[in-house]
Amino acid sequence: MAEKSIIPATSPAFIIDQQVIQQAADNLAYIRKKSGCRVLYSIKALPFVPLLKWLQPYIDGFSVSSLFEAKLAHSVLNSSQSIHLATPGIRRDEQAELNDICTHISFNSLNQKEVFLKNKLPVSKGLRINPKLSFSNDERFDPCRLHSKLGLNIEKVQVNDFLGIEGIHLHTVFSQQDLAPIIKTLDKIELYLSDYLPQLEWVNLGGGYLLQEINNLDPLLAVIIRLREKYQIEVYLEPGKDIVNKAVSLVTTVIDCFESDGKTIAVLDSSINHNPEVFEFQRVPEVLEANKQGNFSALLVGSTCLAGDVFGEYRFNQAIQVGDKISFINVGAYTLVKANRFNGYNLPDIYSVNQGELKCLKHYDYENYRQQWDD
Ligand SMILES: Cc1ncc(COP(=O)(O)O)c(C=O)c1O
Repeated sequence: MAEKSIIPATSPAFIIDQQVIQQAADNLAYIRKKSGCRVLYSIKALPFVPLLKWLQPYIDGFSVSSLFEAKLAHSVLNSSQSIHLATPGIRRDEQAELNDICTHISFNSLNQKEVFLKNKLPVSKGLRINPKLSFSNDERFDPCRLHSKLGLNIEKVQVNDFLGIEGIHLHTVFSQQDLAPIIKTLDKIELYLSDYLPQLEWVNLGGGYLLQEINNLDPLLAVIIRLREKYQIEVYLEPGKDIVNKAVSLVTTVIDCFESDGKTIAVLDSSINHNPEVFEFQRVPEVLEANKQGNFSALLVGSTCLAGDVFGEYRFNQAIQVGDKISFINVGAYTLVKANRFNGYNLPDIYSVNQGELKCLKHYDYENYRQQWDD
């Protein structure tokens, strides 16, 4: 993200830096070229259509979690690109439409597989495998947790489970900056599934890796090449956060400032409802204007009625004043997609910035709010 704050005409506003998206796309192009893998963007991180259109020429398709995501992806891709669906939430009445739109569907359970296999439509069928290898201390982000709802337990898989199956899907980590989990996971996959791998057409290694933060991608390239050559199999990656997180900031304005029990409270024209993971997962978002060594501190709070609508306490070089801009940076993934209008506060507008040039791509107003709640 840019070092200097960029000031859009309206506030609050999400700003997407196209050059930062391009850097992520270039890194994926490098991984694709060196390893021969295919890359999908997992649109759940940020399904903003202009972003999907920017990425479309650089990827092999999109990975989706629902019928709506599949339809959105379909509206942007060309016919040679893929749409991979993996979710525990397939509705039976959506099957026909999903089968029409998706190129690959990974079943989360044997029940899903049975229901889908009844109609013989030309979608490539996969199984989501749960390798039962945990790499997180926080089970909220651990698909391999005890009693997991995500995928078939690799240790219980049987020969019949692979009947009619052309691929496997894995996704086991979140915000990983280290390749050890994928190496260990693939060792376990080969240990348990070596009889089935030669008969498969593809393996989807999921997302969860911050590929741009990994200094040496060679071990990843090597395992992809090995899988491709040993089993004559297509290998897919489906990152989300890696592509968008660093590219987006949320620029807000201080609308009130006062003292409360000895601390400065700075009320923003935004709220944690524009970045719900602050509350959901106790995240402390980075603030561009803050300085840990600064002499002035302030609690940055949102403008809703919730007492806990607090972004956090930050230090600054100057005392915070009404009218100051506060930019939360690295908020591209799972932020705007979860934002809501709690208390009737509008959603932030969305801008793009390209080499310093700002463009408003989306403006929300009262009519959008009314439409949501009108009968
Ligand atoms: C199945 C699957 N694939 C890909 C992703 C994208 O993960 P990330 O945004 O962490 O790269 C997720 C995220 O939850 C996921 O569940």
